[in-house]
Amino acid sequence: MPIYFDNAATSHPKPKAVVDAAVRAMTEFNANPGRSGHRAALAAARQVLDTRERLAGLINAPDPMSVIHCFNCTDALNLAIKGSLHAGDHVIATQLEHNSVLRVLATLAARERITLTLVAPRPDGFVDPGDIRAALTDKTALIACTHASNVTGAIQPVAAIGQVAKQCGARYLIDGAQALGAMPVDVQALSCEMYAFPGHKSLLGPQGTGGLYIAPGVRLLPLREGGTGSSSDSMLQPDELPERYESGTVNLPGIAGLGAGCAYVAENLAQIMMHERELAQALYEGLAAMEGITLYSPAREAERAGIVCFNVADLSSSQVSDALAQRDIAVRGGLHCAPGAHRVLGTLRRGAVRASVGHANTFEEVDQFLEAVRAML
Ligand SMILES: Cc1ncc(COP(=O)(O)O)c(C=O)c1O
Repeated sequence: MPIYFDNAATSHPKPKAVVDAAVRAMTEFNANPGRSGHRAALAAARQVLDTRERLAGLINAPDPMSVIHCFNCTDALNLAIKGSLHAGDHVIATQLEHNSVLRVLATLAARERITLTLVAPRPDGFVDPGDIRAALTDKTALIACTHASNVTGAIQPVAAIGQVAKQCGARYLIDGAQALGAMPVDVQALSCEMYAFPGHKSLLGPQGTGGLYIAPGVRLLPLREGGTGSSSDSMLQPDELPERYESGTVNLPGIAGLGAGCAYVAENLAQIMMHERELAQALYEGLAAMEGITLYSPAREAERAGIVCFNVADLSSSQVSDALAQRDIAVRGGLHCAPGAHRVLGTLRRGAVRASVGHANTFEEVDQFLEAVRAML
C-alpha cells in the first residue's frame, strides 16, 4: 500500500465529504455565484458564503466578509504583501519564510520599492520576538512571519511577535500554510491584520483554494480588478468586502469542497491534532534512535506541526526521497521552497527529507517508513 507522508505539500486523502461536495457543486448547482438570480446561481452563492462563514468560524474572524477566497496561499500572500506596501516602506520577515513570501518581498526590494530585513531564527529554530523588535525602523510598515516552518515544523511565537507589531503600529501578516487546520488559530488573539492560508493542506479542501483574513478597517490595494456581479455600472472596483478583492468567477467546486473540509476539521480538530502529533512523535523518536540520522525538527512534539525533517548518513535528500518513492512512500526532499531555512540549517546543498503526516496516516505506516529508512543505513 502506498504511504503518503507529503501532507505539508498538499493533504491526501481528502475526506469523502470533500469530494462529494465538489461533485455536487458541478452537478446540482453548477452556476456562476453572485451573478444571476436563478435557482442554481443562488445555491452557488449560498455555498460560497457558507464556506466563508465556516472559515471565519475556524479562525475566529469577527466578520465572515473579512475572509477573502483566494486560489492558494501564495495568491493570498501576494494580495497581503503587494496590497499593503508603498514606495519607501521597510519590511521585516524571517529567514524561515516560504518563497511565496520571500520572492514577493525580494522582487519589491530588487525594484527598490521597499527595504527588507530578514531576521534569522535562534539556533533552536524559533524566531526571537526581541530580534524582530531590534530590526524595527521608523519606516517599518509590515512584519511577516510563518506560523510554522514548512521545513522543520517549528511553531513560531506568532502571538508574541503580534505584540511587537501592535506596539510599533506595523501591519502584521502571518503565513498560516502549515498551521490552519492542524492547530487552533484565533486571528484576534494573534493580533494580526492579515492571516493567509491554503485550503488544500490541513483544511483538507481541493487544490486551487485558499484565503486571506483581513482585519476590520484594513484596506489593501486589490491585485486584480474585474467583474464582481455587483455595482456593474461603475468603472471602478467596488469598495465592499469581499468583492473588492474577489474579481472574476471563483473556484466553486473547490470552495464547496473546502466548506466540507472546514466542517470536518471543525468537528475533529482536537483528535486530528493529537493524532498527527503522536504520529510525528513516533516518527521523530524512531529516527532519533537510529545512528546516522540527522534531525532538524524540534524534539518536543508540542513545538512542531506534523513535520519531521531529517537526513540519512551522507546521502543527498533526493537519493533518500527517490529510494523511498521506489517503495511507494511519498516524502519530499530538496529545499521545500524555503531556501533561507535550509541556509540556517546548513542544508542548502544537500537539502533535507521532509516527512509530513496527516489525519489519515497510521502508526503501521510509521513503522513501515522507519523500516525503509533503516534499510538505507
Ligand atoms: C509556509 C508556506 N507558505 C506558503 C505556501 C504556499 O502555499 P500554496 O501552495 O497553497 O500557494 C506553502 C506551501 O507549501 C508553505 O508551506
